[in-house]
Amino acid sequence: MSLVETHALRKYFPAGTGFVSRLFADKKVHAVDGVDLTIDRGQTMGLVGESGCGKSTLGNLLLRIHDPTEGTIRFNGTDITALSGSELRPYRSEMQMMFQNPQNSLNPKHTVGKILRKAIEFHDVAHGDKATELARQYLTEVGLRPEHVDRYPHEFSGGQQQRIAIARALSVDPEFIVLDEPVSALDVSVQAKILSLIEDLKNEYDLTLLFITHDLNVVRHVCDEVSVMYLGEIVENASTEDLFNDPYHPYTRALFDSITLPEPGELSSGGIQGETPSPIDPPSGCRFRTRCPDAVAECETVNPELVERERDTSAETRDTACHLYDPLDR
Ligand SMILES: Nc1ncnc2c1ncn2[C@@H]1O[C@H](COP(=O)(O)OP(=O)(O)OP(=O)(O)O)[C@@H](O)[C@H]1O
Ligand SMILES: [Mg+2]
Repeated sequence: MSLVETHALRKYFPAGTGFVSRLFADKKVHAVDGVDLTIDRGQTMGLVGESGCGKSTLGNLLLRIHDPTEGTIRFNGTDITALSGSELRPYRSEMQMMFQNPQNSLNPKHTVGKILRKAIEFHDVAHGDKATELARQYLTEVGLRPEHVDRYPHEFSGGQQQRIAIARALSVDPEFIVLDEPVSALDVSVQAKILSLIEDLKNEYDLTLLFITHDLNVVRHVCDEVSVMYLGEIVENASTEDLFNDPYHPYTRALFDSITLPEPGELSSGGIQGETPSPIDPPSGCRFRTRCPDAVAECETVNPELVERERDTSAETRDTACHLYDPLDR
């Protein structure tokens, strides 16, 4: 059964602030624009795409950190889209988040013990000495030492701080963790260690993960399934193996061809032509058509839906949103 399921999920932000927002009063940033995403229990789902395509916004929507503009989110079969405050509280511990920069998420004024204890007590997992004991145990689980409860975050390296963030997320006994670029700020040698820790803990604690990253190498090593986002939409979804063996969508192919992904507005260095269009005024029809080498007239008028495709080499299905994809041609 799926653990997380969204239907037609949308998040529009006001475009700009102050004077600018008055100029563009009716303009909205289409950060997430009609996403149907299913994450199965026990899966590690990767979410990839260029900077600004809406990955973090989607992660924040799933955890109800942002309120959606439209659409629904189901967690473990329950519609959590409209739950608020106390109704949402039981789900808060089930769903945890890990960010790119641990410095921003670990309070520098608190000892590591207090940081973990606060999470453990807030979610009613344990209190007092029992909470401290749990904090010590979880530090051991992530490869640190129990006595580290008395130290402050700044006394640790970036990789160790990410271990503390993992310990905090784990300590409230979650089912689902969104990891938003969890290793991007770390040295490559440290990245591998943190990734293998995440994989080990995922198996040990039966976790379901959404792994947001720019790094296709990371995806290949840790994810079972991958969703590719472009300008607020998911354009392709497949098992990691199928996606890497044979990417169907022209954008996915371009992603694989490009060595480094460009920042928004910058010219790409690799296989992606032209600039990323603005999410305030996305292109008509297929959003990728302005950069697609194969676009035809239909791409300008009709936005292709994410359609389930059969594969002749495996029993698994995969989804691609492209008019050009024709199974008979392949
Ligand atoms: N709080 C906000 N207010 C207004 N616009 C926002 C807000 N958060 C995100 N956006 C805009 O929404 C779009 C998607 O942003 P998001 O951060 O989700 O992208 P991303 O794929 O995570 O990018 P990156 O890879 O750089 O982290 C961008 O155009 C961004 O500027
Ligand atoms: Mg992001």
